Amino acid sequence: MRTAILASGRGSNLQALIEAQRSAKLPIEIVAAGSDQFGAGALKRAKEAGIPTRVFHISDYPDRQAQEQDILIWMRENQVELLLLAGYMRVLGSQFMRQAWFPILNIHPSLLPAFPGLHAQRQALEYGVKISGCTVHFVDEGLDSGPIILQEAVPVLAEDTEEGLSQRILAVEHRLYTEAVRLVALGKVNRIGRRVQILQ
Ligand code: GRF
Repeated sequence: MRTAILASGRGSNLQALIEAQRSAKLPIEIVAAGSDQFGAGALKRAKEAGIPTRVFHISDYPDRQAQEQDILIWMRENQVELLLLAGYMRVLGSQFMRQAWFPILNIHPSLLPAFPGLHAQRQALEYGVKISGCTVHFVDEGLDSGPIILQEAVPVLAEDTEEGLSQRILAVEHRLYTEAVRLVALGKVNRIGRRVQILQ
């Protein structure tokens, strides 16, 4: 399955996906990696893995729609069949979503629908929940609101800091994202409205 990844930051999830692909655990081919940020760590990691990269910086376009149209052109050129958001810090607009012919997945560091948006781990600590975790979901037009594919819980410890909790969740993210992508690529994910069934 020809796959593109969009990432804005350090790219540890991108790295986990590249490694899973390399070890033949993932039946996908990562054909392109893009970012809205110059100098994103994710771009460096992709280049080191020999994956072609592109920057779609918002300042290079008249508006967000133009930026997203360019991303779609790039998807078409690369014949992309699956798009993975891995720390991509922008919500994709409704025009993009309408035109996308490929499924789009995202990973989020909380048990959605709790704590969408930025600083999910900090939100969890401030709320005082005892359990947080991470979620892989299909992307829709909302913020972290699409149908849920997989979730895994991570306990919040009494002495947790934002950094400590984030690191423990991140370790789970890498495994969970890989597993969700594997299931999608094998055609084992059945989506009926908001409900997602995993076929055995
Ligand atoms: C992860 O916590 C992911 O869940 C969130 O953004 C962070 C990206 O981290 N969407 P990385 O760039 O993959 O290391």
